[in-house]
Amino acid sequence: MNSVLLASNRGPVSFTVSDDGELTMRRGGGGLVSGLSGVAKDDGVLWICAALSDGDRSAVRLAAGGRIDQAGYDTGPLRMLDIAPAVFHRAYNAVANSTLWFVNHLLYDIPNTPNFGTRFEREWESYRDYNGAFALALAEEAGHGARVMVQDYHLTLTPAMLRAERPDLRIAHFSHTPWAPPEYFSLLPDEVAREVLEGILGADHAGFLTDRWAQAFMDCCERLLGAEADRVGRSVTHEGRTTRIGVQSLGVDGSALWERACEPDVESHMTALREQVGDRRLIVRIDRTELSKNIVRGLIAYREFLAAHPEWHGRVVHLAFAYPSRHDLPEYREYTASVQRRAQEIEDEYATDDWDPLILNVNDDYPRSLAAYRMADVLLVNPIRDGMNLVAKEGPVLSERCALVLSREAGAAAELGQHALLVNPYDISGTAAALHDALVMPEDERRMRRDKLHAAATALPPQKWFAAQLDALT
Ligand code: G6P
Repeated sequence: MNSVLLASNRGPVSFTVSDDGELTMRRGGGGLVSGLSGVAKDDGVLWICAALSDGDRSAVRLAAGGRIDQAGYDTGPLRMLDIAPAVFHRAYNAVANSTLWFVNHLLYDIPNTPNFGTRFEREWESYRDYNGAFALALAEEAGHGARVMVQDYHLTLTPAMLRAERPDLRIAHFSHTPWAPPEYFSLLPDEVAREVLEGILGADHAGFLTDRWAQAFMDCCERLLGAEADRVGRSVTHEGRTTRIGVQSLGVDGSALWERACEPDVESHMTALREQVGDRRLIVRIDRTELSKNIVRGLIAYREFLAAHPEWHGRVVHLAFAYPSRHDLPEYREYTASVQRRAQEIEDEYATDDWDPLILNVNDDYPRSLAAYRMADVLLVNPIRDGMNLVAKEGPVLSERCALVLSREAGAAAELGQHALLVNPYDISGTAAALHDALVMPEDERRMRRDKLHAAATALPPQKWFAAQLDALT
């Protein structure tokens, strides 16, 4: 039986299946997986995740008990849950990604959405079932008194469900997203809002990436549940039980990242990119194609920068890497199309025979991203709202001289803000001006700021973050 377990929707790896049935394994994406993969494997923690695709489901069927690691894959202890596709779809796409993600990132187009009717009731039922499947698997696998770390908004109900089943366990929940203020959180139907909060309060410890998100969660518990929040001692007491609240920031393992970024595949991407852009300055952004990342406003800001500064024409290139994400959701497909339209407008207006002002790439290529980081003069990170944002932390590790233009609404701003150029993500003109300031920043100032950013970004590598989550349960 296992003494430390981890549960999250997305696991460290995912599989694709070819027409002739052959499985290929790849690393999973996003902040949660980047943070947890290395440590969980090194520490031999049993990771329980969901099968997300047909490829994953094929892999699960070939692995006894869903144990991918015991089916010949070098993953570290890993059990994948094969949840019925329709239940998974409603839980992941409709509730987690279209509802809870939208609430916590303030993404609704309020005059038109959300609409909570009978359809949502069925979706919510599936979300409960999906959370229940995790609770059951954890209850089966955990040894007596084990420590269980439940991750993110997909699994808000699991802690309370698991506690009901196994009161001997020590349970933590960790949110990798922001948390909404009560007036926005209460867009959710009252019962649903209550279940989410009480689900997390089923844990002994609820962790957040910044103090701001932890405070917002406590505000919701006070206002919506009538719970008692102790702001100094950081805890919430509800119906006789107390859940401790913690803030554990997540940073980057600087040396591991640097080592990876010096491998030959990255170097050859650097050579190719250099050939493509010559000695022009580079403004780089790297994101999932995600509504909260604010890619469209970033492009409009770049266009405004080009309009205001003709002296930069021919001397700067914007590399925008936006990887596909959540394409089962129509909003995301439309968003990708909108990013592509904006990019085309910039091309049409400014490109010349020998200058491409913008290189937009919407395909996943990790080594190419690392190459772009290494070459960046400016890194643009302008999310509407973000739990942390690891791109803002990876950039300064890999480039010795990149200036960071950073949204004040990213969790990372709490630690990096002092040495970045902070922007209001809705303020296009302000962002355009910051891009210019970043480009003309004197060499000694950019290196000085970059060193400070590097230190802040690597202060809490995943190993320490993970240890802090575990310690919180001791
Ligand atoms: C964010 C979430 C993660 C999620 C990741 C990628 O970082 O906090 O839980 O895994 O985005 O999103 P996806 O839907 O592709 O798993």
